[in-house]
Amino acid sequence: MRKLAIIGIGLIKWGELWEKSMRQIAAEAVFKCLEDAGTDRIDTMTIGNMSGGLFNGQEHLSSLIPDHMGRKNIPAMRIESACASGGMAVRTACLEVASGFSDYAIAVGVEKMTDISGNEATYALATAADQDYEAFHGVTFPGLYAMMAKAHMDRYGTTREQLSSVVIKNHYNGSLNPNAQFPFKITGDQVLKSPMVSDPLRLLDCSPITDGAAAVMITTLEEAKKLKKQPVFISGIGHASDSIALSSRKDILKLEAVELSTNTALKMAGKSIKDIDFAEVHDCFSIAEIMILEALGVVAPGEGGKASSDGLTGLDGDFPVNPSGGLKSKGHPVGATGVAQICEAVTQLRGDAGERQLENIRTGLTQNMGGSAGSSVVHILEVI
Ligand code: COA
Repeated sequence: MRKLAIIGIGLIKWGELWEKSMRQIAAEAVFKCLEDAGTDRIDTMTIGNMSGGLFNGQEHLSSLIPDHMGRKNIPAMRIESACASGGMAVRTACLEVASGFSDYAIAVGVEKMTDISGNEATYALATAADQDYEAFHGVTFPGLYAMMAKAHMDRYGTTREQLSSVVIKNHYNGSLNPNAQFPFKITGDQVLKSPMVSDPLRLLDCSPITDGAAAVMITTLEEAKKLKKQPVFISGIGHASDSIALSSRKDILKLEAVELSTNTALKMAGKSIKDIDFAEVHDCFSIAEIMILEALGVVAPGEGGKASSDGLTGLDGDFPVNPSGGLKSKGHPVGATGVAQICEAVTQLRGDAGERQLENIRTGLTQNMGGSAGSSVVHILEVI
């Protein structure tokens, strides 16, 4: 297998981008990425997108996006794994380069979610839940994560304040990120006063509905070393799936796909979680970040809430998590999220993160998951 490196990233500001179309924001991210990489070469393109059909009435993005960029004829494919579509698009681009099929593979993630009503967006998202056993009965993602939160509180004594500590920390980080959708600080009192969505999760425990795109360029490590910018080495990749329905799992507090994908990526990189300096993880709801900390092996099961409120995951903590602001503050355009996590990790490793820059880092981990962790993909990135 050929060694892999990231040589370019492209991000746009996320939010409600009503004046732009899906194809425009995807192309903007790709052009920024090409500029950053210092090349126009694209051997292949992978496109992470969960549901252009339901959000925009538009499928067949593999032709639409290259054509809009003036680059029709390049081989392109759309990759779907619910909210993990972006991370899976990066993994697929890595497979292209690792196998020798392509030398320059660009992965772009895009989702335009605000052109339909909130109810329609909730329906579109819920198609990634189990239709027969969950969505048909009216259970959508806030409801599924609320069940996990209740169970976590019941079994481990996780508190409302511990959930809020994730929100406060991520909004603080996001306030330092000019590309974030909600770049402002939030207090515990504001979380408590926000409307209840699904008990115990309130509006400010939830990631928002977002329009956004992001892109990364992958090539071989050998090729990357010829370029001026310092490349970021991709040393580990892990992917795993799990049953979609929570009712099919032995334990709804065990995110098995996250555990397995993390272990696979760490093994490939020849590392343990103790070697990782920071992580960007899939905090689609406050409880998700707490459970992911446990699934990564950063803390023991049941200790994620306390670790969060004790400051372990803050910018100056021992294991910073979501320096970008995470899905909570930066936004969650589902197909773009996994690609943007990698953009943040590269920005941090290059030392370009400005006010939210982490100190003394060499190795970062990104973790992106679909639905209630029915799929998960992990990348390990290093400066060499
Ligand atoms: N952080 C901060 N502010 C937020 C926010 C967030 N995450 N989400 C919404 N807001 C703000 C909005 O800007 C708006 O402010 P305004 O009234 O000043 O304009 C206000 O809160 C209400 O937002 P709105 O979008 O009208 O709320 P909604 O009731 O339609 O939707 C949720 C709120 C939580 C139901 C929706 O964002 C949601 O479903 N989130 C989860 C998405 C999801 O499941 N993703 C997949 C995960 S697996």
